Amino acid sequence: MISGKTRFVPLFAHPARHVRTPALFNAECQLQGLDMVMAPLDVRPDMLDQTVASFRAMENVAGMVITIPHKASAARLCDRKVGAATLVGACNIIRREADGSLTGGMFDGEGFVAGLRHQGHEPADFRTLLVGAGGAASGVGHALLQAGVKDLTIANRSRDKAEHLAMQLVSAFPAARIAAGSPDPAGYDLIVNGTALGMHEGDALPVDVERLDPGSLVAEVVMQPDMTPLLIAAEARGCRVHKGIHMIDQQVRLLVDFLK
Ligand SMILES: NC(=O)c1ccc[n+]([C@@H]2O[C@H](COP(=O)([O-])OP(=O)(O)OC[C@H]3O[C@@H](n4cnc5c(N)ncnc54)[C@H](OP(=O)(O)O)[C@@H]3O)[C@@H](O)[C@H]2O)c1
Repeated sequence: MISGKTRFVPLFAHPARHVRTPALFNAECQLQGLDMVMAPLDVRPDMLDQTVASFRAMENVAGMVITIPHKASAARLCDRKVGAATLVGACNIIRREADGSLTGGMFDGEGFVAGLRHQGHEPADFRTLLVGAGGAASGVGHALLQAGVKDLTIANRSRDKAEHLAMQLVSAFPAARIAAGSPDPAGYDLIVNGTALGMHEGDALPVDVERLDPGSLVAEVVMQPDMTPLLIAAEARGCRVHKGIHMIDQQVRLLVDFLK
């Protein structure tokens, strides 16, 4: 029941039609008996700064959840960052403190690794190819290394971003082999699509599926559609597949806990 005491959490996306987090977030709040509610808002990138400034001014805003394409810009608008957000320069949640200041966090990666483990996949020894170097991929790369991955290749359309992310991660995990490289998926135990490819009909596949080793694990961050063209093609080739929805399923409790 929404009342004058309810704490509000907007989710900023552009476009916003694909988002699934609000239903899961609100169900978790209900489960925990928290008087907090989320609704999605479609915010154009050129309006993000003034939108965040407006919500900062509102006393009953608990925080803001951030998704594509705003994660890097949102990080720049925070007064401080904590956890993975400090390293990867992107955040997917902002907590509004009592004094109106903003604390940025990043739970995409923790959610991804928790999702893998929940499905029975322990990533520690996986030779891993991560495709993408945006907000979600950055968080996933950080969390995989924290979970014990020792061999990580990052491939991205804009190569400079893959190199930048690899450099950031090397500084935090000097014992691991981390490099920017090609998206050829042959020879890896785990291949993660950390890009937005697969969200829209007609998108290219993020990797050449003919080069996937049968038996490797192919994972998605894209959660809509449930089975992306990559997962369908990988399954047909004899790979194990891991859906994007597992990442948000396991992340929602972390987001609620950060704001409550
Ligand atoms: N399952 C979950 O819980 C969860 C959580 C967060 C995000 N996501 C999903 O993750 C995806 C990425 O989100 P994000 O926040 O990381 O976005 P982002 O920061 O804007 O990054 C987008 C990434 O996709 C790449 N990309 C976009 N279009 C491409 C194309 N046509 N060809 C090749 N690469 C392309 C970008 O490459 P460039 O650097 O070259 O532009 C970049 O690496 C979205 O589908 C989002 O819904 C899922």
